[in-house]
Amino acid sequence: MPEPVPAVLDFLLARRSCPARTLTAPVPGRDEIARLITAAARVPDHGKLGPWRFIVLTRPVLDRLAGLVEERGAALEVEDRKVAKAIAQYRDSPLAIAVIFVPGDTERIPLIEQQLSAGAVCMTLLTAAASQGWGTNWLTGWQVYDRDFLRDGLGLADHESVAGVIHIGTPSARPPERPRPDPAALTSWPEA
Ligand SMILES: Cc1cc2nc3c(=O)[nH]c(=O)nc-3n(C[C@H](O)[C@H](O)[C@H](O)COP(=O)(O)O)c2cc1C
Repeated sequence: MPEPVPAVLDFLLARRSCPARTLTAPVPGRDEIARLITAAARVPDHGKLGPWRFIVLTRPVLDRLAGLVEERGAALEVEDRKVAKAIAQYRDSPLAIAVIFVPGDTERIPLIEQQLSAGAVCMTLLTAAASQGWGTNWLTGWQVYDRDFLRDGLGLADHESVAGVIHIGTPSARPPERPRPDPAALTSWPEA
């Protein structure tokens, strides 16, 4: 017989992201972060390649990244509005964890399946942190597709990329609801 855990489903049915700009201190401590990462790394992973790793971005690191975003935005002539948004993402965040996609053997496991596993890591990290009452937000932005930013800011090798930057903190405001998809419109039930 199934052994339901109704609280988990209730939580998932109500889960919402908090805009990163509403996140403040306090943030989870080192031991809790290790626990959240342990949960996040417990995802389906075809071939057991573990094609991901984590970089914890604390306040001083986030400040350094905000400076680099400004520099790279100017070098790439990114629109001012987009640069300002990306700077704020790092300057205002109390804590973030970058989930890094590290592709493994694609002869054995298709790239898309490895990418999906990295996405599952991001979602599990987001959900695990939210389950503990933290506000969370999964962000990327133009800067995570800039190889110079990835190398100089995060120390990534050329074959690595960012699956998501998961911002975590104490929400200063209740997150706004947004319209959710209608499951009936998305689901088919073939008869045979
Ligand atoms: C891969 C990925 C990247 C995202 N990057 C951004 C981003 O850079 N900026 C942004 O405003 N939202 C971004 N989002 C959207 C937010 O994370 C989130 O979907 C939105 O705030 C609604 O959240 P909720 O459905 O969890 O409540 C991204 C989502 C995903 C899945």
